[in-house]
Amino acid sequence: MTGIITTSVPRSGSVLPVTVARDLTSHVSRLDLTAFRNYAALRLNVGASPVILTGANGAGKTNLLEALSFFAPGRGIRKAPLPEVARLSGGVSASGWAVAAQVAGPDGLVSLGTGLEARSKGGATRRVVRINGEPARGQAAFAEHVSVVWLTPDMDRLFMEGGSARRQFVDRMVYGFDAEHARRLATYEQAMRGRQRLLRDNVGDSAWLAAEEETMAATGVALAAARREVVARLDAAISEEEGLREAPFPIVRLVFDGEVESWLDDGPALEAEDRLRATLAGRRARDGEAGRALHGAHRSDLVVRHRGKEMAAALCSTGEQKALLIAIILAHARLLGMARGAAPIILLDEVAAHLDEGRRVALAERILALGAQAWLTGTDTRLFEAFDGQAQRFEVSSGSVRQI
Ligand SMILES: Nc1ncnc2c1ncn2[C@@H]1O[C@H](COP(=O)(O)OP(=O)(O)OP(=O)(O)O)[C@@H](O)[C@H]1O
Ligand SMILES: [Mg+2]
Repeated sequence: MTGIITTSVPRSGSVLPVTVARDLTSHVSRLDLTAFRNYAALRLNVGASPVILTGANGAGKTNLLEALSFFAPGRGIRKAPLPEVARLSGGVSASGWAVAAQVAGPDGLVSLGTGLEARSKGGATRRVVRINGEPARGQAAFAEHVSVVWLTPDMDRLFMEGGSARRQFVDRMVYGFDAEHARRLATYEQAMRGRQRLLRDNVGDSAWLAAEEETMAATGVALAAARREVVARLDAAISEEEGLREAPFPIVRLVFDGEVESWLDDGPALEAEDRLRATLAGRRARDGEAGRALHGAHRSDLVVRHRGKEMAAALCSTGEQKALLIAIILAHARLLGMARGAAPIILLDEVAAHLDEGRRVALAERILALGAQAWLTGTDTRLFEAFDGQAQRFEVSSGSVRQI
């Protein structure tokens, strides 16, 4: 699907880079797994349309989604330590593993690869990240070529847990708009850990502390600004899309809320940086005692409300919370399609099983309208009847995949 669209997204004062839409699809065209979980070796060629994976419990459906999730910054949908992913067979773990994907996107075909490579027989392993065969600086580099978002059963508790899972959820959505976001986040967290070590060890080196705080202030305000802007755009997009209709997916009110974000409401980013730097410098003793920084971008949170019910997401039912998350993910995909020229790859693990018939139909319609390559799993092919002939169907069984 190609098209020129005008996006309403760019606004004056936007902190996010703006790109011009060229091609509205971005999809995995080939996936290769080597010694990955229950897959010894797999090559899967797929087209741009949604991919439906069905099979019995334990067949390897979620493992396939996990493999794709390694093309997003971070540790994938299971947050697994990398050695855990290596294929276990007869109690023996493979010495390394690899996942490679060919992605067809606005920039043409790109080959992405990652995994753990054995340096020597039975010896140490090292993490590998390659783009078009060339070593890349880290997994964050994938964000320039592909955006991957997901909804997994683990996220059913997203609104009940602490803020860090929600920040990660927002960060994954920001990566699609700003590939630098992942690197900034890593820099921020590294500086925060460095400062905390100095405070813990009572290193009275104020120049060193000030340098870490300077980094935290600059990257922290950039993180806050990007999260706040993407969440505000999502909020606007959801209102626009759903209008006053409540069904099939709820109208969601989203705010990214925190101290640094409120400073950005009050004045320019440079002033917010000054305030964060000064706050951190003034709270060294307290943060040292607390064992963590009590101020900064890592303290903010995504606040979600079900607008029709005027109720906090945490008070909604499991099914309602799932529908809220779906509404957010679909809005994100639509915005990204407009701003970047390519909808993200959407991984939906066991989502259809939780939806009633009407919502399953609505989900299929939305995904097809987005032109997004969504990968959906389930144990029963009947859950996906709404896709009709417009999706690719595969049967997964004991680490092998067959088109049906
Ligand atoms: N490192 C590993 N090596 C080999 N097999 C593994 C490894 N890690 C997990 N597995 C196995 O992979 C199999 C498939 O897991 P997966 O979670 O993909 O199943 P699934 O098809 O999503 O099933 P369900 O419908 O129950 O969610 C499981 O039997 C699991 O024990
Ligand atoms: Mg599964």
